Amino acid sequence: PRPILLTRHGESLDNVRGRIGGDNVLSSNLTEVILTCYDSDTGDIYAKKLANFVEKRLKSERAASIWTSTLQRTIITASPIAGFPKIQWRALDEINAGVCDGMTYEEIKKNMPEEYDSRKKDKLRYRYPRGESYLDVIQRLEPVIIELERQRAPVVVISHQAVLRALYAYFADRPLKEIPHIEMPLHTIIEIQMGVTGVQEKRYKLMD
Ligand code: G3H
Repeated sequence: PRPILLTRHGESLDNVRGRIGGDNVLSSNLTEVILTCYDSDTGDIYAKKLANFVEKRLKSERAASIWTSTLQRTIITASPIAGFPKIQWRALDEINAGVCDGMTYEEIKKNMPEEYDSRKKDKLRYRYPRGESYLDVIQRLEPVIIELERQRAPVVVISHQAVLRALYAYFADRPLKEIPHIEMPLHTIIEIQMGVTGVQEKRYKLMD
């Protein structure tokens, strides 16, 4: 059986600031001491550790590929990985937070309390104004899932929290209503093996 490796991008400046969405060049940068004033290079270290892990784990897998979203933070995370083709999928982009893009949850709560409450009541169906719901994300992932099922070689998927919740739920057979609440920690690789006896899962936490 060939593995599918799922991971979020390395910690970005927006993660540190608690801002959702975003794809601007500076704030998408992984936390890295040289490029920013932020006093941590956690995101950058993860990208290097991930590259190391992938290169070792998939050493003899010549047909393996790396799939990212089209957003900077996943592309930057994939960049140290050498020796495998990289494919960008728009369908792997983070849930579109519409008018709330770039805001913190506190800002949404303060400035758009009705939106905040509606999302809290039904996170699965709630659609951000001019953005997406989890159900929208699940729907747009369909071609990615079909392609993942067809692959014979291993695939490393570097994407985002909401998208990975949906992908993981598909493979781990988790119910729809749980999807928006699945824990999807940073700096952790979830390895899914699809065999004849079902799906097996291993987790590798590359940083403390
Ligand atoms: O920006 C989006 C987040 O990664 C998704 O988190 O759906 O729990 O708000 P959330």
